[in-house]
Amino acid sequence: MSRADADDNTSQQKAVEFLFDLHVEEETYFPTQVFTYQLPEQSTENLTGLLLDAVYKERDQDLDGIERSNIRELGGWHSRNNLHREEPYKPLVDLVNAVGQKISRKNGYHEAYALEVNSMWSIINPPGCSNRAHIHPESLWSGVFYVQAPEGSGDFEFIDPRTANLMNTPKFRDDKGRPQNCWAEVFYTPKPGKCILFPSWLYHSVSPNLSAEQGDAGNRIIMSFNLDQVKRSA
Ligand SMILES: [Fe+2]
Repeated sequence: MSRADADDNTSQQKAVEFLFDLHVEEETYFPTQVFTYQLPEQSTENLTGLLLDAVYKERDQDLDGIERSNIRELGGWHSRNNLHREEPYKPLVDLVNAVGQKISRKNGYHEAYALEVNSMWSIINPPGCSNRAHIHPESLWSGVFYVQAPEGSGDFEFIDPRTANLMNTPKFRDDKGRPQNCWAEVFYTPKPGKCILFPSWLYHSVSPNLSAEQGDAGNRIIMSFNLDQVKRSA
């Protein structure tokens, strides 16, 4: 090798040295935030007990309920959507508003506005019932609180709202699976006392209740709600 060739090789190696120490920065835009909160055990017992009584009373006064994402023909019951104005639901409204305040602070929302519950309803899914995929128009945030959720009573599912992203999928390593930020669907198994808040535009559905429990014990019972920004009084 001539001296000139050796010099060429050295400068080529130097030119690609950066490849061995490549610090690539990751930036995430347009994230989809989901906030969860699990009530402590004793508070869960107290609050779900109160809500169970109130919801069954409401159902007995309005046996038909209304039809939204529930499938009435299968027995899915959906209450009217202004339960937040009723006394028995006040502790839950207070809890959700407190979570709303956390979201407002975290996201830098204007202090003159409070993120507050503006509608609330209950759904009873006896075994065999599910909820269609849907969104909640005309609100900013929506959520669910689990009152009763026997084993197998139906997972809650979000799907990737970026549908263009579903057109082509990378191959992921078998041993590690997809990293969380590459998931195309997310499932939550319901648990009494758990609260999940999500953007109202995020499609979600509930799989069928396959509980083997008998009678009312097999019912999957939830409270659901919407939140919007309300101008605080001066
Ligand atoms: Fe919903």
